[in-house]
Order: sequence, then structure tokens, then C-alpha cells
Amino acid sequence: MGESVLTAGFAPADGALACEGVPLETIARDVGTPVFIYSAGAIRDAYTRLDRALAPVPHRLHYSVKANANVAVLALLRSLGAGVDIVSGGELYRATLAGLTGADIVFSGVGKTERELREALAAGILLFNVESEGELRLLDRVAGDIRVTAPVALRVNPEVSVDTPHHYTRTGERGDKFGVPYPDALAVAQLALTLPHTRLLGLDMHIGSQVSSVEPYRDGMLRLLELADDLRAAGAQDLRYLDIGGGLGVTYDTEDPIDLDEYAATVLPHAAASGLKLLVEPGRYLVGNAGVLLTRVLYRKEGGGREFVITDAGMNDLLRPSHYNAYHRIDAVRPRGGRTQADIVGPVCESGDFFALAREIDDVRPGDLLAIRSAGAYGFAMSSNYNARPRAAEVLVDGERFAEITAREQYEDLVRHETAHPTWRNA
Ligand code: LLP
Repeated sequence: MGESVLTAGFAPADGALACEGVPLETIARDVGTPVFIYSAGAIRDAYTRLDRALAPVPHRLHYSVKANANVAVLALLRSLGAGVDIVSGGELYRATLAGLTGADIVFSGVGKTERELREALAAGILLFNVESEGELRLLDRVAGDIRVTAPVALRVNPEVSVDTPHHYTRTGERGDKFGVPYPDALAVAQLALTLPHTRLLGLDMHIGSQVSSVEPYRDGMLRLLELADDLRAAGAQDLRYLDIGGGLGVTYDTEDPIDLDEYAATVLPHAAASGLKLLVEPGRYLVGNAGVLLTRVLYRKEGGGREFVITDAGMNDLLRPSHYNAYHRIDAVRPRGGRTQADIVGPVCESGDFFALAREIDDVRPGDLLAIRSAGAYGFAMSSNYNARPRAAEVLVDGERFAEITAREQYEDLVRHETAHPTWRNA
């Protein structure tokens, strides 16, 4: 199953890799490289799979915008019925542009500013996933100022043990900065019940990303359910939502992340027992394998006993290998047949600028195209202008059609907000 999911939307046709009905070579010719390419069909399939798996209980998928915030991707997911999970005012702005409205939006994040709280209240969002007592008190004050009641779900750090490939992406273990620590959760939730301008509507957790087992979901949900019981006993009458976050892993290599049936079998009984509407916040699951980063080989060289393939994409385009030591499969778009072992590296002036080390790949030559797989989530979204490199273009493919959904940045874009002639503010 892993393999079919990994290759979703991308398959060889006439000797070269295509996305749905569009050869990647055509896109490279038209839009240039590096370019992120997303398969609309693969996104639809992933959405449908997850939505069906949760069908036995009342639920909604709130796509986690941070994974891939392109407005065309958001609009596609909205058309399928998704809501969104946002973590900033900027993501609220993007979601709104894509046609999502208040009731579609839950707002997570450990450091929401007063401005962001105001904007989200004005937008009439479904839920604030509140992560601290300080945030709760500020939200209550801001809501009072503008004479509204803020809908609150308490984000709890359930303090369970979580299994992910890198510790940076664990968020539900004791000591992580996210959520209200489980031992304090009841007291903070009771505060939410007493504050005049907040209404406690739910409980929330997000335990981590690229999670590889169902146990932390089970353990975390049990803790949330216990809390819900205590709260009801303490007089809470409005609980309606149980948000269990995102985190569902996808296949990058040969690993088998959580099986969807197993996930559903774990989550559904607890969701049903809670009597609450289940909310999930998948990011990577919906878009991760629906995208590739297409890059052209610039050079080959050898040195110090290593073989290098140098590409026109760098760590500024796709940070994951460098930042998390993450594995991405890399395929020649038009394989030559021979194989070689090489470091696949970018042009950025850092030795950490690599996509793969000592990787066996096709014996590519300068000018050949490489597809760096599974780059639909946390690819473009984490890209930067480091080394004054304009950010890549983004393309959406749907059947036989393709469209540029983000134009490649130009040099002028790099300095749009800068000045070489400072106007001193205090002179
Ligand atoms: N909900 C919340 C509150 C989150 O913080 C996240 C991700 C998600 C949902 C979605 O998680 P997903 O379903 O995509 O696993 N940059 C890292 C991943 C960081 C995830 C941060 N939070 C990476 O490239 O692996």
C-alpha cells in the first residue's frame, strides 16, 4: 500500500515521468526549474481516503495550512469539503482568499498575538485552540472589547510518548512547548468556564508529525476523554468538539507509516464514546506525496572520494533533508539505465545543502531532470531566499491540464521591501 501511495499522481509514460497526463519535461520547458508540481488527483484521493475512514462518526477534516499554503491548493481542498487549521494571521488571510469562511477555521499555535486574536474573532472562526492560561485571559479581554464571545477548545499537551523520525516534530510529550500540560488542564479549562467572554466548546491535542504508530493517539484521546468527563462533572455543558490534531505519516521511502484502517479503528470508538464531533488537522497526509520538486542537474564532479550531482534546487527550496535529515526519494525523469552512487547537492554555500548523501541513483548527466519525491508538504512552505535565490514556481496539474499557481520570484522581488538609502526615524 505504501508504494502506491508514494507514487500517487506520478508515473512513467513513454519513458519519462509524468504527473497525471502531463510530462514533467513539458512543465520544465514551460515554467523552468526548480519547480514544485502538485497532482490535484492525488490530493483528492488522499482527502477521500481519510474522509471515508472517519465516516462512521460526525467529523470534519481541517487541513493544516502550514504544510502547503498555496491558495490554489487551499481552494481545491475547500472544494472537497475541507475546513482549515491555521497558525497565524497570514494563514487566516490565505484561507480567506481561498474562499474559506469563519466556520471553516480552527486556530492553533502557541504564540498568537493580540492582533491575530482580533482578526480571527472578527472573522468569526469556529474555534481557538488555546494553548496557555495567558492566551485564554487575553482572548477573553479582546473578545470583551469587541463584544463577542470567543469559542474555545483547550489544547492539552497529553504528555504521551510519541514516535516520529525527528524529535523536532514531536509536540505531545512532557516538556514540549505546545498546549497546556495535562496536569494543569482541568484548572485552565475551569477558568475558561468562568471567564465572561469565552465559551469552552472543546478539547484539542496535536501530538506530532509523521507519527508512526497509533498508540499516542489512543493514549492522548483517553486523556482528553477523562478531562471531558471531569469537566462535565464540573458543570461544563457546551462541549462539542474533540480535535485530535494531525500527524498521520506518509511513505517517503519503504517505511509503512500508520495504516489508515488501524488509525480509524483506534480513533473511532473513542470519538463515538465522547459524544463529540471529531476534528482532525491533517497536513502532510493530504499533500505530502501529491508533490515533487523538479530540478535540473547542473554539473557532475568528483572529489575526496565522493561523487557529486549538483542541481539547480537547493536547501532554500527544500529544507527537510538538511534540517531533519529527512529521506526523499529521487528519480531521474528520463532514466538512462546506468546507476551511480552520489551525493545530490544544491548550489547553496553550506555543506548542509544536500538532498541525499551516498544515494544510488540513475547515472544522470548535466541537463537531465530529477524529481525529488514527496515534496508536497513542508517543501515550498519552508522555502526561503537564502543566498538571494528567488523562490521556485509552483504548478498544479489536473488531468491533462497544468497551471502555474505561483510565479517564480524575480530578482526585484528579493529587494521589494528593502532600501539602500535609510531614512533615519529619530534624526
Ligand atoms: N495541527 C497542528 C497544531 C500542527 O502543529 C501541525 C503540524 C499539524 C496539525 C499538521 O501535522 P501533519 O498532519 O502535517 O503531520 N516541518 C516538519 C513538520 C512540522 C509539523 C508542524 N505541525 C516536516 O517537514 O516534517
